[in-house]
Amino acid sequence: MSNRGSIHKAVIPVAGLGTRFLPATKATPKEMLPVVDKPAIQYVVEEAVAAGIHDVLFVTGRNKDSLENHFDRSPNLERTLAERGDFEMQGKIAELADLAAMHYVRQGVPMGLGHAVSMAKEHVGSEPFAVLLGDDLVDASTPVLPDMFAAQQKFGGSILALMEVPADQIHLYGCAAVVETDTPDVVRVTQLVEKPAAGTAPSNLAVIGRYVIDPAIFGLLENLAPGRGGEIQLTDALAALIDTPADSGGGVHAVIFRGKRYDTGDKLSYLKSVVSIALDRDDLGPDLRAWLTSY
Ligand code: UTP
Repeated sequence: MSNRGSIHKAVIPVAGLGTRFLPATKATPKEMLPVVDKPAIQYVVEEAVAAGIHDVLFVTGRNKDSLENHFDRSPNLERTLAERGDFEMQGKIAELADLAAMHYVRQGVPMGLGHAVSMAKEHVGSEPFAVLLGDDLVDASTPVLPDMFAAQQKFGGSILALMEVPADQIHLYGCAAVVETDTPDVVRVTQLVEKPAAGTAPSNLAVIGRYVIDPAIFGLLENLAPGRGGEIQLTDALAALIDTPADSGGGVHAVIFRGKRYDTGDKLSYLKSVVSIALDRDDLGPDLRAWLTSY
């Protein structure tokens, strides 16, 4: 039967090497790079929690200890802050460990995003689950997960988030061909291609790092040959779900996302995220705006 229901679990892959941001990411995971005063990954976890997720599985790799420490209690730091009377910060630090039930699985060798997601099979079980890429930041003022969860309830199967990008940028993304549905801004996906060669893209709709996925994906990932770049590609398994019957967990729809989103694994996009989020903050925005204007 088609799987429809509330989404309780999120999988957040953070095992990539982050080569686009070297040397900063040699010993520090790119997901821990600060965006103003929080690591990028904290925004991602907060977004999942705001959408009603209470269970987070990180797919981690080498050098990711700082990420686990970030979401753990820190008794010495909390005690020191309390002794100094900074109870507000003490509360914020303590809360990080209670945002959600945090779980970790190791990816050993980073063989691609599809391979990273396949590591979640045991933890996920038989319900649809969310996947949030740890280096993809969706501005909290324009959330997309609630619309994706609603689309999953209505259409079943798996749900992607698509964003229009300029034609000369689409080769950097997974790309989808789509047809309209009776719901505004929800489309049915008919074809998926990972990073199409210039001039071959079926549309200018790019797949961004938010997914709701039916567990039928795990069987497909197990049998998937390496795709583009020799990696096990999540896009290839999602493409196979398009052709899978609905009563076996198939079918792929997508929400068209029109909000603000940043790839914090890309240097320029990372810088934009820092400026944009700082400008929106009451404590920093006015002074930064004044400085930027004069600069
Ligand atoms: P990216 O392709 O952006 O990550 O994967 P990367 O390989 O670390 O980046 P560059 O190109 O070398 O700079 C998107 C997300 O999937 C995770 C990454 O951590 C990132 O959050 N990922 C990717 C894995 O967990 N495992 C992998 O094998 C590949």
